[in-house]
Amino acid sequence: MTEQRGNWTSSAGFVLAATGSAIGLGNLWKFPFITWENNGGAFVLVYLVCIAAVGLPIMMAELLVGRKTQKSAVGALKEAAGPAWGLVGLWGVLCGFTLLSYYTVIAGWSLFYFVQTIGWTASGFPAGLATGDLFGEQVSNAPLQLMMSLGFSIATVSVVYFGVQRGIERIARLFLPILFAILVLMLVSALGMSGAGEAIAFIFRPSFSELEPVGVLEALGHSFFTLSLGMGAMITYGSYIARNQSLVKAAGTIVLLDTVIALVATVIMFSVIFSVAGMAEQVGGSTVGMLFISLPELFYTEVPFGIILGPLFYVLVALAALTSTMSLLEVVTSYVIDEHGIERHKATVMCGSAVFVFTIFAALSFSDVPFLSTLAVFEGKTGWFETADHFVSNWMLPTGGLAITIAVGWFMTREQSESELVDETTPGWFSYGVWRFFIRYVAPVAVAAIVIAVLRGTDFS
Ligand code: TRP
Repeated sequence: MTEQRGNWTSSAGFVLAATGSAIGLGNLWKFPFITWENNGGAFVLVYLVCIAAVGLPIMMAELLVGRKTQKSAVGALKEAAGPAWGLVGLWGVLCGFTLLSYYTVIAGWSLFYFVQTIGWTASGFPAGLATGDLFGEQVSNAPLQLMMSLGFSIATVSVVYFGVQRGIERIARLFLPILFAILVLMLVSALGMSGAGEAIAFIFRPSFSELEPVGVLEALGHSFFTLSLGMGAMITYGSYIARNQSLVKAAGTIVLLDTVIALVATVIMFSVIFSVAGMAEQVGGSTVGMLFISLPELFYTEVPFGIILGPLFYVLVALAALTSTMSLLEVVTSYVIDEHGIERHKATVMCGSAVFVFTIFAALSFSDVPFLSTLAVFEGKTGWFETADHFVSNWMLPTGGLAITIAVGWFMTREQSESELVDETTPGWFSYGVWRFFIRYVAPVAVAAIVIAVLRGTDFS
């Protein structure tokens, strides 16, 4: 390979890119919904414990494997833990490929709602519009779905095409501050609403009698998804980190930011929902409900400054999604670059196009297309989209995560991992011994619990 390997220009650039990968539809779309389903408080507390006890140690593990080897998922695991572990990397690449294929479709919906809200802001929210029907019409409109997902795929490819510094890092540096600013504006507006107090109590007041055991596993499963763990994405991003930077500090910052943003998004959404009489009963039913059915109308009827915040909110969703899709595509592309010696520009277009073929399948899952809309492999999941989502969330991420944890905890020596995590830049709160205990025992047992639960029929998608 003649090309020089890319590197982040600075520690802040890397942290922003990795935080952008972590913050995505998982924070804005999935977390508020599962918090709702699991009755808030106690679930949130369990989630925080999972993030700290499992998510954070695995985040450090993935980053250290990447930086140590300076290779993407497949090569990195091979070199760090042994040749057979390359298969785990390949499993991760496949997982990134599959997740990207349907994640792009949801990202496309945010474009649709952006355009809609711009229209409503300009000429008023149409009286009597049923937003549930609107959602149904847009997902089943095949040409529209194809166009939006194609648009989003092109955006993703365009970023990754320019590489680590000029593509990924540059976009993350530009978009994350915008994303934070929009969230702060929305939070201020939401906290002024009458339902804010009730929302905060719902989210932060634990009542353990309302949490079912499966909620614990759901919290654990989501901590993987939201931190982009289990598929080598953080190994890949880690491989571009310079030597003189503390991995521990970076991991801590990424995990903290991701968690804060998930909580802020939840406070915003619940404040709105609790402010509207009867809304609390209507929400739920589906994950899309909150983001694409309840909220659009509420911006125009309830939220202070909603006519401005409405379109901004869907920009936020789109930006959060893009900083995640570019990281997913990077997992696949960097594998092709590193392991097959293909040059980045060509590799990006190739991978992006290959993924898009499957995006088409996901995009048409809600139209009347035989097979794509009827496929039924998993119970209660109909169509290509739901099948892919179920397979990734329930099977690929937990098994990949378990394997990565074992690779780092049991197939790398103490010296190998310690030299990456501990140096003069390591913050005082970090204890290598505690980390090693968590990565060898706590994390694998916890993740194995998810895998066993899935085998016994629990659904995390
Ligand atoms: N963390 C992303 C979110 O919360 C989703 C995700 C999971 C992801 N694994 C990833 C994104 C790998 C990029 C890379 O929406």
